[in-house]
Amino acid sequence: MGKLAVVVLAAGQGTRMRSSLPKVLHSIAGRPMIEYILDAVAQVTEDRPVLVIGHGADLIRQTVGDTVTYVLQEEQLGTGHAVLQARDRLQGGADDVLVLYGDMPLLSPLTVQSLVQAHHGHAGPITMLTCVHEEPMGFGRILRDEHGRILTIVEERQATPQQLAIRELNPGVYCFRAVWLWEHLPRLPLSPKGEYYLTDLVHMAVAEGLAVETILVKDPLETLGVNDRMHLARVEGVVRQRVREELMRAGVTIIDPSSTYVDATATVGQDTVLFPNTHLQGRTCVGRNNLIGPNTIVRDSTIGDECRVEASVVEGAVLEDQVSVGPFAHLRKGAHLAQGVHMGNFGEVKNSYLGPGAKMGHFSYVGDAVIGADANIGAGTVTCNYDGVRKHATVIDEGAFIGSGTMLVAPVKVGSRAVVGAGSVVTHDVPADSVAYGVPARVKGKKASQGS
Ligand code: UD1
Ligand code: CA
Repeated sequence: MGKLAVVVLAAGQGTRMRSSLPKVLHSIAGRPMIEYILDAVAQVTEDRPVLVIGHGADLIRQTVGDTVTYVLQEEQLGTGHAVLQARDRLQGGADDVLVLYGDMPLLSPLTVQSLVQAHHGHAGPITMLTCVHEEPMGFGRILRDEHGRILTIVEERQATPQQLAIRELNPGVYCFRAVWLWEHLPRLPLSPKGEYYLTDLVHMAVAEGLAVETILVKDPLETLGVNDRMHLARVEGVVRQRVREELMRAGVTIIDPSSTYVDATATVGQDTVLFPNTHLQGRTCVGRNNLIGPNTIVRDSTIGDECRVEASVVEGAVLEDQVSVGPFAHLRKGAHLAQGVHMGNFGEVKNSYLGPGAKMGHFSYVGDAVIGADANIGAGTVTCNYDGVRKHATVIDEGAFIGSGTMLVAPVKVGSRAVVGAGSVVTHDVPADSVAYGVPARVKGKKASQGS
């Protein structure tokens, strides 16, 4: 088996998307479209694929990173011209070249593998996929002679009414013998649209009496190319369904799949239950035996095991095990709730650590704070962390009890087991084991000497 190079085309503007974002960067189930095809080709070669870019090149480079070799197509003169740009990189270095388009995220690695295998099994210069679909989706039509041999590919724009009726289509995945490819690409004719069509190579091979092999893709859905936002929504639906099915097979209960949105980048552990209208987005990891939702968004967060998160928004947060959150809680970036924390309704936590067993039951704001184990944050407590210019920290040590309606004016510290009376405004540190209350709060004595 000869050496295989892979070229993925992604230089086009994607005019039909009507977008300022390059087409291949549009998100599908939380991942840029281009990543799907790059994942699929990673299964057929360990070498870096060549990615041909043009429109939005910098943004594509930033997003995809250094897992590919970039080739710039400065002017988008067609798919044939795009492949030609990779010649200098690949000539002499590969025996065969696999070419795919960056806008077909549903293509399975198995299909790509079967194409590559078929190509190795025959001598002609081109082996390509075809599919049969009732809805032609703007694809090029496959023309065959009376013996069923492929003759040429006609682009939809140039097709006659009879040709338009053909239902065998060109998904746009090809294997070429490298020597033949590099020799013929510069000879492509200019199409009526003013572009050099890669698809015209088929006709060139046939004219030279060389055989072009085709492999029929069984599931035409795989070959769907995203050209407009309708295609995008369709592909989105398919990928999301695949993600949900994978989770269910792995032991996750999804009460209502149609209203559950899990990004392809999220993971969920066994025996977790996802209730309706749950959204798991970005780099989210959910462990085992959790109850998530209904009506919950978890974004770029980590949730341990045996947690309960109901009707809440969790962003950039970490929940350890047995944490209960909600309903109507908002965890923001840097919120870290240790084991057994209870955060009830209408709370907000940002950039703060709540130690094991800490409780914050009702409408409180905790920002830039470190809260010790088993501390109790009374209803309506606010860490006043912002003085209009800078943010300041609040420290509440383990076992402290903060009465309802307390304002903690940061920077401030409440010591271990201290008690702050309801309605206090705490402007100075409260020592451990003491009792303080009032506006502003004053230390009124030692807890141990109290209440006997
Ligand atoms: C192409 C095929 C068509 C096939 C269809 C399948 C050609 C001429 N036509 O049409 O037969 O049925 O795909 O989806 O190949 N690109 C570049 N540089 C360019 C032009 C395009 O890199 O100068 C890239 C695009 O970014 C895109 C891919 O090539 O990822 C395909 O281009 P697109 O314009 O979508 O081709 P189709 O009209 O869909
Ligand atoms: Ca396309």
